[in-house]
Amino acid sequence: MRVAHPTHPDPGGAGAGAEAWLYCAAMKHIGVLTSGGDAPGMNAAIRAVVRTAIARGARVSAIYRGYQGLLEDDARELGARSVANIIQRGGTILRTARSKRFETPEARAEAAEILRRRGIDALVVIGGDGSFRGAHRMHEEHGFDVIGVPATIDNDIAGTDVSIGFNTAMNVALEAVDRLRDTAASHDRLFLVEVMGRNAGHIALNVGVAGGAEAILIPERESDVADVADALVAAQERGKTSSIVVVAEGAVPGGALALQRTINERSGYEVRTVILGHTQRGGTPSTRDRVLASRLGFMAVDALLAGRTGEMVGVDKRGTVSVPLEQVWNTEKPIDEQLLELAAVLAI
Ligand code: F6P
Repeated sequence: MRVAHPTHPDPGGAGAGAEAWLYCAAMKHIGVLTSGGDAPGMNAAIRAVVRTAIARGARVSAIYRGYQGLLEDDARELGARSVANIIQRGGTILRTARSKRFETPEARAEAAEILRRRGIDALVVIGGDGSFRGAHRMHEEHGFDVIGVPATIDNDIAGTDVSIGFNTAMNVALEAVDRLRDTAASHDRLFLVEVMGRNAGHIALNVGVAGGAEAILIPERESDVADVADALVAAQERGKTSSIVVVAEGAVPGGALALQRTINERSGYEVRTVILGHTQRGGTPSTRDRVLASRLGFMAVDALLAGRTGEMVGVDKRGTVSVPLEQVWNTEKPIDEQLLELAAVLAI
C-alpha cells in the first residue's frame, strides 16, 4: 500500500521515495513525553503524535513524568484508542516533571540504555526550551532522533510565534481581569493583577492590552515603582475612578505585593492585589491551542519520519516552520514593541 506524504511529497511522485518513507515509518518507534510546566493543549499534542505515528505505520510509546519517568523506565506502548477523549482536557495525561538528574551525562546514558531496551529510536518532546536542551543532548550524545514541540503558557520560545497553552492562559487571565474590573469600578479601587510568565511579559502585555489596563509591567522593560504610583495618581486626577494594573510575575522585585505597598505609601489608594498563579495553567484548552497542538504534533511525527532530527516545529507568519533546536535557546524572543507603545497611548 502506498500512502501519500502530505508535507514532504516525494518529488518523483508515489515512486521509490514514497516506499522509502513507508519503510522509514515501519522501522520507527517514537517515544513521546511532556516535560516542564504543563500547558493547556498538551493532551491535544499527545493525541496528534500518537495518532499520526500509528496512521503512518510507526510504533509509539508514552513516557510518563518527563525525563524523570524516562530514568525510571515509566513507559508504555500506546494504541490509537488510548488517546481518546483527551483533546478537551487541560494538563497532561503523561504527567510532567522537571528533572535535575537528567542534566548529568551519566543519567542521559542510563536513559539511552532504557530507550534502546524498549526499541525506542526517536523522541517527541513536548515542553519548553529547558526540555529541548535535554532532547538535543540525547541526539548529540546518543544519536536519538528528536523533535521538539513548543508548549508553555509563557510563550517565551524563540522560533515560533506561539507556543501551546499561551492562548488559553491569556483567556483565563483576561476573564479574571474582566471580573475584577466590575468590582474595581463598584468600589473605586485599584487592582493589581499578577500574571505568570516567569521572565517573559507576553501574557501580561497581551492581557493588559485586551483588558484595557492602566499600566502593564513586564520584565523586558525596567519599571520604576515610584513612577508607576505617580502615574496612577495622575490618572485619578484626570478623572479615572478605578484602574487595573497588570504585572508580570518577573517584572518587579517582590512582585505585585511589593508594588502594592509602594503604591499605598505614595498615593494613599485602596489597592487590592490578585495573584492568578497556577489557575492560568489549568482548564479546557481554547480552540486555538487545540488546533495548534494538533498541527504541531502531526508535524513533529512527519518530520521524524522524513528523517529530520534536532529541530523544533512551530508556526510563524509564513505558516508552519521548523528551526534547529539550538537556535531556540540561543535566540531571545522579542516582546511586541507595538503593543507596548499602544498600551501606553490607549491608557490616557
Ligand atoms: O513556565 C510556566 C510557569 O507556569 C511559569 O509561568 C511560572 O513562573 C512557573 O511555570 C511556575 O512553576 P511551578 O509550577 O514549578 O511553580
